[in-house]
Amino acid sequence: MKVRRDIEWLTEKVNAMRSFRGSLLGYVGSSPDVKQLAAKLVVSPSEVLKLDANENFFVDADFLNGVFVEVFRDVDLRFYDPRAMIELGKALGVYVGVPSECVVVGSGSEQLIDFIVQFFLEKGDEAISIVPSFFMYEKRVWLSGAKLIAVPLKADLSLDVDGILEKVTEKTKLIFVCSPNNPTGNEFGWREIEALADSCSAVVLVDEAYAEFGDGSICQKAVEKENVIVLRTFSKSFGLAGLRFGYFVANRDLAPALSEAVPYTVSTVVARFVEKLLNRFDAVKDWIEGVKSERERLIEELRSLRGVEVLDSKANFVTFKPKAGVERVYRGLLEKGVVVKDLGELPVIGHCLRVTVGLPYMNDVFLRTLKDVLN
Ligand SMILES: Cc1ncc(COP(=O)(O)O)c(C=O)c1O
Repeated sequence: MKVRRDIEWLTEKVNAMRSFRGSLLGYVGSSPDVKQLAAKLVVSPSEVLKLDANENFFVDADFLNGVFVEVFRDVDLRFYDPRAMIELGKALGVYVGVPSECVVVGSGSEQLIDFIVQFFLEKGDEAISIVPSFFMYEKRVWLSGAKLIAVPLKADLSLDVDGILEKVTEKTKLIFVCSPNNPTGNEFGWREIEALADSCSAVVLVDEAYAEFGDGSICQKAVEKENVIVLRTFSKSFGLAGLRFGYFVANRDLAPALSEAVPYTVSTVVARFVEKLLNRFDAVKDWIEGVKSERERLIEELRSLRGVEVLDSKANFVTFKPKAGVERVYRGLLEKGVVVKDLGELPVIGHCLRVTVGLPYMNDVFLRTLKDVLN
């Protein structure tokens, strides 16, 4: 009898999880499957342009594979290798300019968001997030049983520090600020983030998933603060979404304490691979510069189209709003094999689409197709 009751509870939980769509921060829609879409359009999968997940097409896959093979040759997978973690921490510390003990690693930033939520939030607690922002914060907070409160950005997309502070109560344990923000693409200054951190005791989690495409990081300033954590990932600027590697930076007390609680989820292969890549950052730098220069061209060309509003971007995507029939434009692009992200109706920016900055030829195809659809 008890087992049956437990299974009912589990089924209910699983179903609730499956049907979770989010409502506060943005639309939790799934990506169309490229193979299925290609079959429907009767084209080959390579002809489908998948520009909806902010992946990085500028990376040199052969270079990455070469580094990976080198690592694979050196690593003995039969053993635990704590040295690999220590050396990885050192390399990351040098990369972001903070002491190595301030760095904590994990399997992608989504896993680390989950860990931070679990660590700081309990049922009955509250978290605050700017809106619109990365929808995953809402899902993670919901899973923890805590409550998420959304505070809209100002009309000019700047951070509403007073608006956030008005919502802080003794139950508030975590504040999410994504910078550069997905999906608005803009960055927030240290002054606003510091004002927020200094005016409350909640942990301010600054998600810098796209920082390398922007004007700089707050990591070095964050380690001087009691309650700021900066989250980073290799999925975007390093183009390694499939590797699953992320890290966060916090002060000398907080980071080592949190590090003891994070599960040991980074393999020796990933640790050594990331360390090697950091030592060859010159190659990665070129990919980042490639994205940035194509992003500026994409923004300019989109702005030259009539009937399209375009947000500035410090990330590897551009968010835009066709003034009439957003859904029609989304479908029109999809039917011609160009997949962008339909962000749904959002506070402050309304109903927008988001496109990943692709290689020049991809952006040309996207722009040509968009022109066709708009006409
Ligand atoms: C703002 C932001 N944070 C985190 C992530 C997830 O990154 P990761 O691949 O490291 O889990 C994304 C992914 O798109 C993102 O947009």
